[in-house]
Amino acid sequence: MMNIGFLASHTGSNMQAIIDACKVGDLQASPVLLISNNRDSGALVRAKEEGIPYCCINGKTHPNPEELDQAILDVMLEHVVDIIVLAGYMKKLGPKTLSHFVGRILNIHPSLLPKFGGKGMYGMHVHEAVITSGETESGVSIHLVDAEYDTGPIIAQSRVPVKTKDTPEALAARVLQREHTFFAETLQKIVTGEIMLPTKQEGNETV
Ligand code: GAR
Repeated sequence: MMNIGFLASHTGSNMQAIIDACKVGDLQASPVLLISNNRDSGALVRAKEEGIPYCCINGKTHPNPEELDQAILDVMLEHVVDIIVLAGYMKKLGPKTLSHFVGRILNIHPSLLPKFGGKGMYGMHVHEAVITSGETESGVSIHLVDAEYDTGPIIAQSRVPVKTKDTPEALAARVLQREHTFFAETLQKIVTGEIMLPTKQEGNETV
């Protein structure tokens, strides 16, 4: 079984969709941990309700960035995490966690990267920018995580139409609905070997 450790900052609906896919057997994996940087996040409430170990680690619990990085890595190792899933996590990861889990950290982003990614491009900002740009399609990207925002190698994408009279909220809801099935499907392809993640040797230490 692939042990999944989540990082999430807000609602945690993507985390929930993955947990649900595990419960019904669509995803052959075990959710073993949630770390949130936000002590008031819905994700923490969901993990508690699901009986999944959880904790809050952030700049208040660990003001020193190196110690924060080490704390995240230590908890992931303690729970024997195989793959880290960023499910709406709005912080960068530190070099120790990135290097230990090279090629084993995935993020979901609500656009067709490399379009509409990078600093400040999260949540509703992404969908507002997509509509303002006159795009006719948007979508979901799942990519490996590196030290920057949204720049790691893309491993899977799914397209979603942008409709003529879409509001950012309407587009966000359509994309999020796709995220909820696509993330678990992509993880299952990793489990079955249909999608191969880089081995530690192949992975760049900065990835
Ligand atoms: C999702 O739409 C995810 O793609 C996005 O945050 C939302 C989290 O929702 N992530 C980013 O924008 C990362 N750059 P959730 O908390 O309900 O899963």
